[in-house]
Amino acid sequence: MTMTEAGTAEAFHAVYGAAPTGVWAAPGRVNLIGEHTDYNDGFVMPLALPHTTAAAASARPDGVLRLHSGGADGGIVELRIDALRPAPGPADRILEASRGGAQRSGGWAAYPAGIVWAMREAGLPVGGADLHYESTVPTGAGLSSSAALEIATALALNDLYGLGLPAQRLAQLAQRAENAFVGVPCGIMDQTAAACCTEGHALFLDTRDLTQRQVPFDLAGEGLRLLVVDTCVKHELGDGAYAERRAGCERGARALGVRALRDISYAHLPEALDKLADDPDVRGLVRHIVTENHRVEEVIARLDAGDTRAIGPLLTAGHASLRDDFKISCAELDLAVDTAVAAGAVGARMTGGGFGGSAVVLVEETDAEKVTTAVTDAFAAAGFVPPRVFTAVPGAGARRLG
Ligand code: GLA
Repeated sequence: MTMTEAGTAEAFHAVYGAAPTGVWAAPGRVNLIGEHTDYNDGFVMPLALPHTTAAAASARPDGVLRLHSGGADGGIVELRIDALRPAPGPADRILEASRGGAQRSGGWAAYPAGIVWAMREAGLPVGGADLHYESTVPTGAGLSSSAALEIATALALNDLYGLGLPAQRLAQLAQRAENAFVGVPCGIMDQTAAACCTEGHALFLDTRDLTQRQVPFDLAGEGLRLLVVDTCVKHELGDGAYAERRAGCERGARALGVRALRDISYAHLPEALDKLADDPDVRGLVRHIVTENHRVEEVIARLDAGDTRAIGPLLTAGHASLRDDFKISCAELDLAVDTAVAAGAVGARMTGGGFGGSAVVLVEETDAEKVTTAVTDAFAAAGFVPPRVFTAVPGAGARRLG
C-alpha cells in the first residue's frame, strides 16, 4: 500500500466513518509543446507529473453524492445526483442552484459533480458515491489540478459502477463536464494527459481524431532535466481571456473557410496571413496556431531521431509565439524563460493556459542548479514572489491505487 493510498483511505474513514471500496489517482501535467492547439483540432504533447490527486471512494445506493477534500475548507458537499444541473456562471452558483443547503463553499466540488452529471447525461448507469480527495498537484499553477480531480473521479466511478470505459472516453466525458457543467471552454489535452499518459513518455495527441502515441522521453538517460518553474502567479481560465482566444481562433477559421485552424498547413501560412491583413489580432492567433502545430511535428521528428537537445530552440520559439502572437504570457513567465535561456538552458517556454502559472525549462543536468539560482535571483531582483522550481519526471496516468 502506498502512502497516498493509505493516507487517503484513512482520511476517508475519518470523514465518512467506514473504509472506502478503493482509492484511485490521476496526475497533473506539464505540456512540452503544442499550446492552445487543442481547441483548433491540432497537436499537443503533454507529460504527466508525479504529483497526483487521489480519490478514496465508495458507491451509495441512494442517489446522493458526497464530496470532501483534505485541501479545501468547508466540510462535506452533499448533492442529489438527479438534481445536478449545468448553469452559466461561477461554479459556486452552479452547485447552489443544484440543491441549495450544505454546499456553500468550494467551487472545486463542481468538477467531480460535473463528472457525475456528464456520465448520467451520456446515459451511463452511475449512482451516488462518497468521495474524499487528497492532492499534491499545485492549484492555479497551470499544472491541471482540475483535470486530475476530474479524472480521478471518473476512474473511481468507472470502476465502482462497472462502466468499463476506456481512458480516452473518460477524458472526453471530463471535458464535457468542464465545458458544459463547470463552464470552462477548455480543450481535451489536460483530461487526456491525466487519463492516458504513461511513465517515461510524453504523449503525442492529435486532438482531431484523438489518435495517440507514447513518445519515449528519458531525459535522465541523456543527461538532461526538465525543470518546472511555478511563477506562483495564479492563472484563472474562467476569466474570459481564454474564451476570447478560442473565439478569435474560430473567427480565423471561418474567415479562411476551414473547419479548424489545424487545416491551414505551414506551407500555406503566408497566403492565410495575407487574407487576414485587416484583422491583426486574429492574424497573430492564426500565426501562432499554425507555427505551433509545425513545432510539435518538428519536436517529434527530433525526438524520434534521438536528438533531444535539438528540441530546445523549438521550445523557446514556442514561447516567443505565445508572448508576441497569442499574447498570453506575463512578466513573470517572460523573466523565467529569458533568464533560464541566458543562464544556459537548452530551451524554455511557458506551459498551459497562460497569464501566469508555470514555465518548463530544458537544461543539461549539470546546469540545473545554476539555472535555478539564476531564475530565483532574477525574481528577487524584480521584486516578484519567489518561484517554486522542481524537476518533472514523466509519470504515469490515472490508475487504481488499491
Ligand atoms: C488549458 C486548457 C487546455 C489547453 C491549454 C492550452 O490547460 O485546459 O485544454 O487549451 O490551456 O494549451
